[in-house]
Amino acid sequence: MARINANYLKLKAGYLFPEISRRVSAFAKAHPERQIIRLGIGDVTKPLVPAVLDAFHQGVDDLASSDRFHGYGPEQGYDWLIQTIIDKAYKPLGVELDVSEMFISDGSKCDSANILDIFALDNVVAIGDPVYPVYNDTNVMIGRTGACDARGYYEGIVYMPCTEENGFLPAFPEQKVDIIYLCFPNNPTGAVATREQLKGWVDYALANDAVIFFDAAYEAFITEPGIPHSIYEIEGAKRCAIELRSFSKTAGFTGVRCGLTVVPQELKASDGQGGQVALNALWNRRQSTKFNGVSYPVQRAAAAVYSATGWAQVQQVIDFYMENARIIREGLQAAGIRCYGGVNAPYIWLKTPAGLSSWDFFDRLLDQCSVVGTPGSGFGPSGEGYFRLSAFGERANVEQAVERIRNGWGQ
Ligand code: MLT
Repeated sequence: MARINANYLKLKAGYLFPEISRRVSAFAKAHPERQIIRLGIGDVTKPLVPAVLDAFHQGVDDLASSDRFHGYGPEQGYDWLIQTIIDKAYKPLGVELDVSEMFISDGSKCDSANILDIFALDNVVAIGDPVYPVYNDTNVMIGRTGACDARGYYEGIVYMPCTEENGFLPAFPEQKVDIIYLCFPNNPTGAVATREQLKGWVDYALANDAVIFFDAAYEAFITEPGIPHSIYEIEGAKRCAIELRSFSKTAGFTGVRCGLTVVPQELKASDGQGGQVALNALWNRRQSTKFNGVSYPVQRAAAAVYSATGWAQVQQVIDFYMENARIIREGLQAAGIRCYGGVNAPYIWLKTPAGLSSWDFFDRLLDQCSVVGTPGSGFGPSGEGYFRLSAFGERANVEQAVERIRNGWGQ
């Protein structure tokens, strides 16, 4: 009989967001009269902006014409998209990249999982706690961990608690680690790292021969000046960091699917035999074998995000979501609920009222207010006692949700 990858049996039963959907569907079925407001998964609600949609349509029309038809594209993405991103999103930050250093993909969730393919299993991995669950679960799936303990920590992973006390910024691991996941602006806490703090991580990685996976999926939501949008704004980062970015939240591509990963040519890791290998070549090899590129119309749509009109339209939508974030944050604060984030990230991280556990608050909020959020403990043990609300809703829903929470939980 064929055997399974038994590492999957170490995982908690369901991935966080489907588990929430399951509970919400059951509730909706039992209470069809309730108008449920969903601020759980960070899924966008605004449609694609007109400039992006036009380019998307044009891309589809190209496929209908024999002289503009496109079959397989480069596995790494079209040069015209990569060059546009370099020129419009990296050069203004003072970051120079070569076209060969960027890989277009179907999203940073997949990339953050797939990148593990090119690293040995005995690397010691450090992740934040709480954290985007994909980082943890994919390390379990690939076989880097032992069992999960009673607190929810997997043997073999180094967890870096991000708490109210440390401002939700992880401290450097005490033991030697080889791979460090950093996500700024952070999902779920909304915390950002200053230039000095990021420099600390780059210096740490260089001193310890570690590689940083820098997830910048939410960089477009930074509103405060001076906060780095890319780890490559920090001197030396090209020698120690891989950066992931996404069009999902920036341009409403959660259903369209497009992201990118930067693997600088200078970045090397040990071959285990005294030599060093460029990670760019390995990732290129991996992608050309296992991936056939993002569809042509999607890449056309992605390039349009960076046209003058496209960017102005996308920025308006981002501003809209960040106004939602302000409404949630200030509304909850006025009700005496302690909350964080929502200034440089579309997530509000709140302390559950009345000392409730994250899941108890989830159930009560659903039951009493018909509002859905994400239990903090779903992001890791240090998220217990916290709760995440997403700012990606429609305005009327966001206002209504805040009103309901204030009435239900305000002091
Ligand atoms: C989230 O809610 O954390 C995100 O939407 C999940 C994702 O981007 O995969």
